[in-house]
Amino acid sequence: MTPANRVAELRRELNRHNHLYYVLNSPEISDREFDMLLKELEQLEKEHPELDDPLSPTHRVGSDLSQTFEQVEHQRAMLSLANTYSTDEVDKWVGQVRALLGDQPDIVIDGEMKFDGTSISLIYENGRLVRAVTRGDGTRGDVVTENVKTIRSIPLVIPEETGRPDSFEIRGEILLPWEAFDRLNRRRELDGEPLFANPRNAASGTLKLQNSAEAAERGLDAYFYYVLSDNLPFATHFDNIKAAESWGFKMTPVLRRLSSIAEVEEFISYWDVERKRLPVATDGLVFKVDSLHQQLNLGFTAKSPRWAIAYKFPAERALTRLRSVSFEVGRMGIITPVANLEPVLLSGTIVKRASMHNEDIVRKLDIHNGDMLYVEKGGEIIPKITGVDLKQRQPDARPVSFVTRCPACGTPLVKVEGEAATVCPNKYGCPPQIVGRIEHFVGRRMMNIDGIGEETARQLYDAGLVHSSADIYDLRPQQLMPLEGFGPRSANRVVEGAEESKKVPFQRVIYALSIPGVGETTAKKIARAVGNIDKLMALTSEQLQAIEDVGPAIADSIVEYFADSRNLENLMRLRAAGLQMEVEQTDEQQGSDALAGQSIVISGTFARHSRDEYKALIELHGGKNVGSISKKTTAILAGENMGPSKLEKANSLGIPLLSEEDFLKIIGE
Ligand code: IVH
Repeated sequence: MTPANRVAELRRELNRHNHLYYVLNSPEISDREFDMLLKELEQLEKEHPELDDPLSPTHRVGSDLSQTFEQVEHQRAMLSLANTYSTDEVDKWVGQVRALLGDQPDIVIDGEMKFDGTSISLIYENGRLVRAVTRGDGTRGDVVTENVKTIRSIPLVIPEETGRPDSFEIRGEILLPWEAFDRLNRRRELDGEPLFANPRNAASGTLKLQNSAEAAERGLDAYFYYVLSDNLPFATHFDNIKAAESWGFKMTPVLRRLSSIAEVEEFISYWDVERKRLPVATDGLVFKVDSLHQQLNLGFTAKSPRWAIAYKFPAERALTRLRSVSFEVGRMGIITPVANLEPVLLSGTIVKRASMHNEDIVRKLDIHNGDMLYVEKGGEIIPKITGVDLKQRQPDARPVSFVTRCPACGTPLVKVEGEAATVCPNKYGCPPQIVGRIEHFVGRRMMNIDGIGEETARQLYDAGLVHSSADIYDLRPQQLMPLEGFGPRSANRVVEGAEESKKVPFQRVIYALSIPGVGETTAKKIARAVGNIDKLMALTSEQLQAIEDVGPAIADSIVEYFADSRNLENLMRLRAAGLQMEVEQTDEQQGSDALAGQSIVISGTFARHSRDEYKALIELHGGKNVGSISKKTTAILAGENMGPSKLEKANSLGIPLLSEEDFLKIIGE
């Protein structure tokens, strides 16, 4: 057999086993056997690069290269659905459909699940996935093909024998199954990262990750519910869904033809309960007119098809008594009111506490002490208070009062102008803030100091050993050993962990500092743009705002941070301890002033670096990256396929175009 034939055979086999495993849930071979076939294919592709194919099953693991998302116009607009909230409204819609269709008496309605993820449109040409596009604004969306390719249940190549049309679009919902969602959030909690509120946010966040290898790990899945083509095999929605299933797609598993209002109602009451057993989040049902001919007659309004309607499940709600309100102080000093509730069962878990977020929300709901409160879970994992049962309020109940002094340190609180947050300004004296910062500093994605967790941070603070991050580097095993829970081994682990953390790259050091507003991504962009801590400390608010992702509020917060002598002292000690205070020279370049005074617009696509990298390079070399061309623009970094309107504007204003090569020469790369 020629290598080309073996490669083709392996790909066919691997695709078939992928489908058996991820779509049909009935594997024929073990994971090990699958891996062996995959390895053989990888080896052959390596030996015969001419046989490589971007849609080969070997390319499902994603890549670490950062990608940018090009935007394209949808072939057909992605509309939304009109919502209803009761069976009566659904009945009314069926009546309207009947009236609009007039003389066509037989109307079949398809009932489906409404999946609560993020919608996707896939374009196939000659059986090959050519593009995956997000909904975007309905007219234009982001091309996210690389991330979508990592979803194993999505076929990349569909053999002609399946009977698929040569050209079609298929739409569905990308979802993060509950199990994968819980796993992801558990890991994020350990890493000290913000949790995703629901699987929908997690799915859309994952789809927009720049690193497709990371997306691949999260375990997305997809269900499809709509096929569009000029050559559909059947004249009904139901039959086309079944056809697409036979082409290899994981189609909506809940699909029923309903021929009477009674059946529609039965379908609703059945799935309102049964949906909780599904592995993915759902927020309702969708009803569609089955006949494509009738769909055509009904047409669309500006926003949605007349031939379909969504029915939203009522959010799960419980009523319970407010026992007391406590106030928690976060790492940034923000005060969060938390309702302590009489325990109540809600969507399978017992709820005892619910965040009330901030004072404005407490005021808006006018919550009184001892009130009976409505608690909802909906798609959110964190329960939310949505209202008060006024009928049950005690006549002498008084409104919940918000603390005026910090519950931890007694300092008078301040309200942040223009924001709902109330803050304790005693940054360096308020214990939960100090402990919160230490906890953050040692977290996995920050300095990753083994041996210090949430409780240890508190213990070290209480023992008077650690008040600021720099104190961690002065710790000796003898000081730790007397503490409860510590032995020689765990004490050594902390000291060794601190030593090890001195290798952590500069960008993570910036993130670890707890500068308000500076999250992981911003820290990375700042590190790349400035190169070292001295430069960062010297920048003015205006200069900082030239860095991508840094707006006026973050810029001011950085300036304020470095203006405080306590932060400076801590930083000097961290530097003396040997932490990384500059970007490593090997994989990151040093900045220069080569582009000082320049205002550069980036346009088109590039071969050597991603757009984001070019933005960072412009900042790194003293220039400013701006979004649109104006009289102030000094140059355009022009890649392939620069848009015609931009080109015209640049020409009319006489702004020079720099090619990718020109640009790299200027910055000396
Ligand atoms: S049909 C032309 N079917 O709901 C309308 N949509 O609220 C085509 N969705 O953007 C949509 N499950 O993301 C359809 N079974 C289902 C669905 C579904 C979830 C989402 C979809 C759409 C949104 C509209």
